[in-house]
Amino acid sequence: MWDILLLDCHVASMAEASNAPFGAIRNAALAIENGRIAWVGPAKDRPTTAAREVRRLDGAWITPGLIDCHTHLVFGGERVREWEMRQHGASYEQIAESGGGILSTVRATRACSEEDLAYSAARRARAMAAQGTTTLEIKSGYGLDLESERKMLRAASRACELANVRVTRTFLGAHTLPPEYSQDRNGYVDLLCETMIPAIAREKLADACDAFCETIAFTAVETERVLRTAQSHGLAVKLHAEQLSDQKGALLASRLGALSADHLEHLGDDGIATMAKAGTVAVLLPCAFYFLRETRKPPVAALRRAGVAMAIATDCNPGTSPVTSPLIALSMACALFQLTPEEALTGMTRNAAKALGRQASIGTLETGKLADLAIWNVSEPAELAYWLGANLLHDRYLEGRSDQSRSA
Ligand code: NIG
Ligand code: FE
Repeated sequence: MWDILLLDCHVASMAEASNAPFGAIRNAALAIENGRIAWVGPAKDRPTTAAREVRRLDGAWITPGLIDCHTHLVFGGERVREWEMRQHGASYEQIAESGGGILSTVRATRACSEEDLAYSAARRARAMAAQGTTTLEIKSGYGLDLESERKMLRAASRACELANVRVTRTFLGAHTLPPEYSQDRNGYVDLLCETMIPAIAREKLADACDAFCETIAFTAVETERVLRTAQSHGLAVKLHAEQLSDQKGALLASRLGALSADHLEHLGDDGIATMAKAGTVAVLLPCAFYFLRETRKPPVAALRRAGVAMAIATDCNPGTSPVTSPLIALSMACALFQLTPEEALTGMTRNAAKALGRQASIGTLETGKLADLAIWNVSEPAELAYWLGANLLHDRYLEGRSDQSRSA
């Protein structure tokens, strides 16, 4: 007996094995049992299994719930004053070097209670959920001492609980040097590797570890030490690589078997080849590119040629991407980076799941996967990346439970 049978709908399964664009199944049916997809396919082929409840969707499209695989959703304050300075001509690097940038958010985040951090992040998570997001990756990295990083990671879970979104957490202690170590780089990397990473892994506060490999943050040598330590404590690894300059971060990350290398505007051919070989996902962040008014784009055509899986995320953060709309990220991926609408949606579903190591349970609509669904008032799935600023969501299911039935 199925719990729920969805009818009068079209399904964009995003399944890799499908030959149809978007893995589309027109005039489909989708059955849910125990929070998982029990059956999906053309309505006319469905088995005669009974369902406790049949819901008719008036021709709406169902896609996998959107997966935002790179965010810094938990933070104190905002950085609107710095943004105004940038409008007057200051660069992101100049602001960072004068003690602003990430460090101004570190000060604000350290000053916040865990509860305040959770509530402010929950507001942003709810805005994302209202546009179809069902899974959110959230990074720490605005605490930069063990207690403040723990506070951020706990707040990340609480925020997603409040917003009814699935969470995955990433430790980003190597985001920048904290003020108390400004004269002691090695001391901070020692602290990360000898104290913070072991504690975060032991306390199961994160699934993965990330670092910012950049001239204004950590060198490739420091990054390698951090990521190798994380791996030795059982954490998956990811990397902010080649955002502002080519530090060979993606090369390093993929040599270590990283789940993803993210940003990649300055990625070179060597990095692309190793990413392809290692199956490291290229996470592209068009909203940060837009908000920083960057001009150098990630090498999308070369990534495509090499067969590197591309994911898209909002990168929601107060400095480079104050964006809580997954649909705007999809649109920008197409308009700014020339992805096709199908590539963009794949980037927020199947490939985003891969960037989180969760492809076995989420990211496509296939039998056995979790019933995380987004239901849209559109005539074609490409519309998700076409309308800019419209909210097209009709309903959302997290593990088989819909928002509409929850609020009813
Ligand atoms: O993804 N690149 C580093 N981290 C963030 C920005 C963080 C900030 O400016 O607060 C990013 O762009
Ligand atoms: Fe980021």
